[in-house]
Amino acid sequence: MVLELRELSVSFDIPEGEVEAVRGVSLSLAGGEILAVVGESGCGKTVMCQSVMKLLPKTAKIRGGRIIACGEDITDYTDRQMRPLRGSVFSMIFQDPMTTLNPTLPIGKRITEAILRHKKVSRDEAENRAEELLDLVGIDDPPRRMGLQPHYFSGGMRQRCILAIALAMNPKILLADEPTTSLDVTVQAHMLDLLRDVRRKTGVGILLISHDLGAVARAADRVAVKTSAGNTGGPASARGRRPKHRPGAGGHRRGRAGGLLGRLHTSADRDVVSASAKGT
Ligand SMILES: Nc1ncnc2c1ncn2[C@@H]1O[C@H](COP(=O)(O)OP(=O)(O)O)[C@@H](O)[C@H]1O
Ligand SMILES: [Mg+2]
Repeated sequence: MVLELRELSVSFDIPEGEVEAVRGVSLSLAGGEILAVVGESGCGKTVMCQSVMKLLPKTAKIRGGRIIACGEDITDYTDRQMRPLRGSVFSMIFQDPMTTLNPTLPIGKRITEAILRHKKVSRDEAENRAEELLDLVGIDDPPRRMGLQPHYFSGGMRQRCILAIALAMNPKILLADEPTTSLDVTVQAHMLDLLRDVRRKTGVGILLISHDLGAVARAADRVAVKTSAGNTGGPASARGRRPKHRPGAGGHRRGRAGGLLGRLHTSADRDVVSASAKGT
């Protein structure tokens, strides 16, 4: 397993007291696997990702549980201990590519600088690596595109560039938080195909976070559904359950999603329902 969450709970301190954003979530992600985590808006998906990367807002605290990355228990790691792991062990991509891209900086320069910041290589080597990465994420004619600023790119192409930056250090774990939500439906499908392609070529394990089961079920090897029954307005409650393996569930992807929906429907009293789509 490249990533394991065991009964992870995270809460926020607010003036009125404490708000629980993630409650007892357990999941495991194998190398080269795409695990989709699906749940309604506000159920704690982003907070879960932020706790793995240790990028939680100052008012948030991990209240319980463990985070194990590549066999190492990083639950209590400080920012300083985390820094070398960001990019090389974990990487994250977000919903809006422009939060990561500088509008005035040409794409090639942005990727090259990201590489130079982490790796002791020459500028030429970093530029070559940046072109390789653009090629990996399906951008044609990388040498020409390198010099263009983000506004010359479509939303889908920007998200490809973000993916290129995220993959620059060959991470083991990619946290993709709503990576297709801001994209048009046809572009979404291309992005998901790209994630499958990238994991095949690089072996990265991907946690694919979305509020939209229909959008991501097709791309995932397994789907975990995170819901939060009592989460309207009041304190967040997002309860996790250990994923249950269901050997032999769904021989093909369409079947898997269908099976999952059936299960969800009958399990409305649960906060997290998890289904395995792997017949192992
Ligand atoms: N900065 C914050 N301060 C207080 N509560 C927060 C903050 N950020 C998130 N939360 C709480 O955590 C819950 C989960 O948020 P989030 O992880 O962003 O949801 P999701 O990504 O699933 O839409 C929210 O419903 C909210 O109650
Ligand atoms: Mg979110």
